[in-house]
Amino acid sequence: MTPTDELFNQYAGNYDAVLGSALSATGEDVSFYAQNRVAFLAGLLRRMNETPVSALDFGCGVGTATDYLLQCFDLKRLAGVDVSEDSIQSASLQFANDRVSFFEIRNYLPDASFDLVYCNGVFHHIPVAQRAESLRYIYESLRPGGIFALWENNPWNPGTRYVMDRCEFDRDANTLSPPAAKRMVRQAGFESIRTDFLFIFPHALRGLRWIEALLTRLPIGGQYQLLLRKPS
Ligand SMILES: C[S@@+](CC[C@H](N)C(=O)[O-])C[C@H]1O[C@@H](n2cnc3c(N)ncnc32)[C@H](O)[C@@H]1O
Repeated sequence: MTPTDELFNQYAGNYDAVLGSALSATGEDVSFYAQNRVAFLAGLLRRMNETPVSALDFGCGVGTATDYLLQCFDLKRLAGVDVSEDSIQSASLQFANDRVSFFEIRNYLPDASFDLVYCNGVFHHIPVAQRAESLRYIYESLRPGGIFALWENNPWNPGTRYVMDRCEFDRDANTLSPPAAKRMVRQAGFESIRTDFLFIFPHALRGLRWIEALLTRLPIGGQYQLLLRKPS
C-alpha cells in the first residue's frame, strides 16, 4: 500500500484529469461536484444564520474547492492543509494570496481558531487506525461552536462504486458507510447537526435534478455530508 502523501504527490500535476476521467461516466466534471458541494453547504449555513469568516480545507489537495469556498462564504481567511507536499505546492501556485494559504499538515498546528472546517473525499484515504488522529486535528482546529462539514463518497450508491473502481487513486481507498462515519465523529466529540445525501442523477437525467432537493435525507446520493459542530 502506498503512503497517501506519496500517492497524491504523483497526482499533483493531473489530479483533475484523472478524477475527471473517472467522473466522466456521470457526464459531469470535477468542478461540477466541488461547486455543488460547497453551494449546498453554504445554503444550509445561511438558513442556520451561520456566517463563517475563517475556514480550513482539510485534505485540500490541489485546491479544487478554493474558488467555491471564497465565492460562497465571506471569508477573511482560508487555509488548506494536506499530507501531499506536491499538492500543496500546486495549490499555492494557483490560489495563494493574502487571504488564502496552504500548508503541509505537519507544518501547521491546530489553534482552535476556525469557524468552519470543510473536508471532501479525504477520510477514505486515511488508514482506519489514523482516522481518530485526523479527527482530533480537525476538532482542535475549530473554535468552540465551529462547524465541520464532512463529505464522503457513499459506498451504498452503485454509481459511486463504479466511479471509484475506475479512479486510479481510489485503488487503496477504504470507504466509510454513513453509520460508520457517524460513529467515528461521535467518538471524536462532534455533535451531529444533520446528514444529507447529494448527487443522484447523472447529467443525462439532469431534468430530474429538482427532485434531489426533496430526497437529501434518503441514503441514495453518490456522496453524503455530515454536518457537525464542535460543542461550545
Ligand atoms: C481524493 S483527494 C481530495 C482532495 C480535495 N479535498 C478535493 O475535494 O478535491 C484526497 C486528499 O486527501 C489528502 N489526504 C490523505 N490523507 C490525509 C491526511 N491524513 N491528512 C490530510 N490530508 C490527507 C490527500 O493527499 C489528497 O490530497
